[in-house]
Formats: sequence, structure tokens, C-alpha cells
Amino acid sequence: MAGPRLNNRKEAGFSRRGFVGLLGAGTASVGLGTVGVTPAAAAAAAGATSTELPPPSSPAYWDAVRRLFLLDKKVLFMNVGTVGSPPREVLDTVDRVHREVAVGAVSAYSDFSDVRAVAARGYGCDPDEVTISHNTSDGMAKIMAGLALKEGDEILTTNHEHSGGNSPMAEARDRHGVVIKRVEMPVGNGQRAEDYVELFRKAITSRTKVMVFSAPTYKTGTMLPIQLLAKLAQDHGLISVVDGAHIPGMMAYNFNELGVDFLAGSAAKWQCGPGGTGVLYVRNKVRPRYNPNPLPEFWPVVSSGYPEAGLPARSSGATASYDMASKLQTIGNSSLAIMAGVANVCEVWDRIGRDRIQNHVLGLSGYLKELIVERWGVKSLYSPKDDPRLVCALTSFAPFRDPADVYDAAKTTAFVARLKDEYGIVIRTSDFPVIGSARSHQAVRVSTHLFHQKEDVERIVDAMWRLSGDMG
Ligand SMILES: Cc1ncc(COP(=O)(O)O)c(C=O)c1O
Repeated sequence: MAGPRLNNRKEAGFSRRGFVGLLGAGTASVGLGTVGVTPAAAAAAAGATSTELPPPSSPAYWDAVRRLFLLDKKVLFMNVGTVGSPPREVLDTVDRVHREVAVGAVSAYSDFSDVRAVAARGYGCDPDEVTISHNTSDGMAKIMAGLALKEGDEILTTNHEHSGGNSPMAEARDRHGVVIKRVEMPVGNGQRAEDYVELFRKAITSRTKVMVFSAPTYKTGTMLPIQLLAKLAQDHGLISVVDGAHIPGMMAYNFNELGVDFLAGSAAKWQCGPGGTGVLYVRNKVRPRYNPNPLPEFWPVVSSGYPEAGLPARSSGATASYDMASKLQTIGNSSLAIMAGVANVCEVWDRIGRDRIQNHVLGLSGYLKELIVERWGVKSLYSPKDDPRLVCALTSFAPFRDPADVYDAAKTTAFVARLKDEYGIVIRTSDFPVIGSARSHQAVRVSTHLFHQKEDVERIVDAMWRLSGDMG
């Protein structure tokens, strides 16, 4: 059931022995008509003047990609899992449209169908299925608030979720009386994708209504197998919700092929869009190949586009009965500049090639894991390494030589601070429950992105090795 982009993903590979490298429609011009530009048109104009890249086979290619960004050269920024950095041309677009809007005092009451069309192309879905939200948390909240839940229904989730998902689940618990059940996540390199599916399968009961899981989990960078879990949900008639904060801009997934009902992601992390932007996918038609189940009841609770006469029934076939994303996107006056920035950054990613980006970032994280295993041993890794279905570009591991330090939050925080102060490298801490351990484990998390190269991975590994030696 996997679609071509998921299946044809080449094995990304960087190795010590050498680099084997891989590596709009409609209109949002409601206000902008007066200044003669739509967000997608603004983005296209920016693209026309952007820095040309050499051919991807050129050794200078990834250097040129790095130069698309303004990132401070004195710092090696490897915390993209928290926030990305927009390319220059996106900043120019946002700035220019902000100014045009200010000059013309232009309003933005729109469903931004042109921006959604650009995003839909990049994310492998239809424009009526993708909304530009405020961020992942906003998307998760809108999903959970829009579901028809009732007392006694169970939400099946994990013990490694982010507050962006945990908060709306807790609100649903208190509002509707639903029960939250959590699968305990194994960590490290010992699992295969099927193991996670089995854990969920065993936890499903006759009351389970929704499955909510992060892919990847932000704590250990475990890419829970979305298609397999979506199939499990389908087989049990469950609604599937993915906290995919890290998916846009990192993974080249065709969202429709994932087979899930909902996915909330960030457009400002790996996708490097303007701050305060996200991607909200809502399945809006029945595609028997990927998900033959009826569309779940769903209410776009934040909308100024909800029709007075109510909404028609959701589609039971291949054609949408109405544009769900338009209802979710229409929320009063918005920002033409920010929306133009989102369209622009999607075009930058499409120009480079989302498969190429995915291969590059996974190749770097694979190389990082290889070097970590060489120095610290495979037991230090909290991220999977060997099952390609579980990997992503987030790498979590325990950096200290003394195993007892895995419980030492203060020392781990000091490690991250010293790595920044003494080596100019920015990463973050990560803590999480581990099966069989009374106390949470304390790890560090490294993000490898398209503005990094093999040398950056070697630099951070050397720095972390020296620093962990210094800190005893
Ligand atoms: C898995 C996960 N979900 C949700 C969030 C919240 O993201 P946002 O700031 O886009 O709401 C994060 C942030 O790091 C995350 O890692």
C-alpha cells in the first residue's frame, strides 16, 4: 500500500569509508488584488530571482543549498527539531508583501486556495485536504476539538507524546469523559516497525475510538510506522491522528498514501517557513487504495467559513462533498505576507526536491548514528538505527561515559550549554520514561538538516566526545 515516494526512497548513506552520497489554484487575492499580487504569485516572483543551484551531482551542490540560508556562520545550529530558519528568498517575500500590504492597507479575508494548492503539491494531497495552520499544536487542538467524542470512548496514544498533543487530549478527557490509554514506548535500536504495531494492537479494546501517535516521537526520534499503524486503525474502524510536527520539510511523504485521517505538522521546523505556521492535513475523500474507511465525523470548530445552512454530509467516495481545508483556513483576517512565505518555502523545497532533501537528512543522521555507535556504543542510542522504517533526522543519545549520568538532568543541561558556549554548537536535551526504569532518562537530541554536511556531523561528534570526556 505504500506509494512511490515512500517505497522508492533510496537508502541514504554517508559512511566513514567515504561519502556514498545520496543523497497555486483559486485565489487568495481577496485583499491583495488591490496591490496586484496573490501570496502564491508573490512566492513565484521570489523564486524567479532566487539563487541558482548547481546540478545536484556537483560537489558544490550542498554548499550552495546552505547559502540559501542566513544562519549565523559562527554557530553550528543543530536544533531544527525545535525551530528552522527560513531561506533568504522567503524572508524577502515576507518582507516585501508585508510592505505592500502596509502601503495598500490590504485585508486578507481568504481561504488561501492558491497557497493550499502549492502546499498540496509538495505534500502529496489535494488542496481541500491541507490547511496552513498556526503550528503543530494548533493543528492538534483543531483535530481533537473537531472529533465527535463521547463519554467512555478511549484514545489510544503513547507515553512519548508532546504537550501539543497531550493538552488537547487532556481537554477531551475533561470535556467529554474520554479515557486516555498509553502504550509504553521501547527505546533504542532493538525494535522493528512491527513491534510498535503489535504494542498498539494489544492495547486496542472495544471502546477504542481514536489512535493518536507522534511520528517521529520528538523524544527519541523514532519514526513510528505510519502506514502500518494507519492500517491497524483502519482494520479496527479507528480514527487515526498523527502528530507529525517534524514531517513537513524532513520527509518526502505523500500524505494521501499514509492512509491516516489527520496529520498535524509544523511549517516552521524542518520546512523552514515563517514562524507561526503549520500544516494540517485532513483526509477529505475515500481512496480505497490507501484508506477505504468512511470519513470520520469532523467539525471545523474554528471557522468563519462555516455555512449558515450547515455542511453537507462528508463524501463517501473519491470526490469531496466540500472543501474541508477551506473551512479550516477561513478564520478571519490573516497575513498575506506569512502565507506568501509559506508558498515560497514550499516552492524552494520542491525545487530542490523533497526526495533529495529526505535522502540527505537521513543520510546525515545515519552517519551520525554510526559515529555515535563507534565512540559511545549502540546502547547509548535512544533512536533506532537499523530498521529503515523507523529512522528520521532526529538523533537522541546518552552522551556521558558513566551510565549513572543518564539520570542527571542538571549535567545533561550543562552539557548542552557548554557545547554551545565552548564549541558553538546548538542542540537540545530530551528526557523521557524508559520501560523498566524508575526514573526518566536524560539524553541530548541532534537534528541534521539540508544545510548540514558530513563535516558538520564529524565536528559535532568530535566536540561531544571531547566534552563528555572533560565532564567525566
Ligand atoms: C512531536 C511534537 N509535537 C508538537 C510540537 C509542537 O510544535 P509547534 O511548536 O509546531 O506547535 C513539537 C515541538 O517540538 C513536537 O516535537
